[in-house]
Amino acid sequence: MKSGRDLRVVPPVDTTRVHTGEPENLPERFANRALGMKASEIRSLFAVASRPEIVSLAGGMPNLSALPMEMMASVTQKLILENGAEALQYGSGQGHPKLREQICDVMALEGIKAHPDDVIVTTGSQQALDLISRIFIDPGDVVLVEAPSYVGALGTFKQYEAQVVHVGMDQDGLIPQALRDAIKTTRAAGRKIKFLYLIPNYQNPAGVLLPADRRSEI
Ligand SMILES: Cc1ncc(COP(=O)(O)O)c(C=O)c1O
Repeated sequence: MKSGRDLRVVPPVDTTRVHTGEPENLPERFANRALGMKASEIRSLFAVASRPEIVSLAGGMPNLSALPMEMMASVTQKLILENGAEALQYGSGQGHPKLREQICDVMALEGIKAHPDDVIVTTGSQQALDLISRIFIDPGDVVLVEAPSYVGALGTFKQYEAQVVHVGMDQDGLIPQALRDAIKTTRAAGRKIKFLYLIPNYQNPAGVLLPADRRSEI
């Protein structure tokens, strides 16, 4: 295999012979886009974080002791008993219409007016990052990100062959002047900036909050 590749595949089941290792010509069977794939940093991070002797501050692990487990169990039981036929069946790929309406109600509190048709419910934000990358990034496009930024997002941008450009931060998050400079330098180099990805609240991994005035400036 070429260097940088770390892929594991389950070969097709062949009941006529015992597999002794990788099938022949395995590397040639992969699509070209798989050539640059590497194991996600998240995988290595969780491999360390799940060791009992380690208290890891590296991953954004949910604090499970804060969850109301009994309440969640009774809500789940009620949902399945009263509405299981709908809850366990395939539904709208865009997300349950009622949930999309409620998401709009919550966003309205933040001053964002959206229609439920404009909302897509994803399985975690990682899926949203993948969808956004798929529709916006052409190979070679520049994505501006904070320095440092969230490894899961960086992996997705790289998978879609974006050129990731890091922009400086301080204790108040992304520095607006550093952003101006990065935009200027990138454009001067004839490269196309597709978007800025930033984490304004509890930035991962820096943990900082972007103040209101910087948000407006950015
Ligand atoms: C900034 C950021 N985005 C996305 C994620 C992943 O979110 P999800 O589990 O919803 O895919 C994390 C997880 O730590 C994160 O820190």
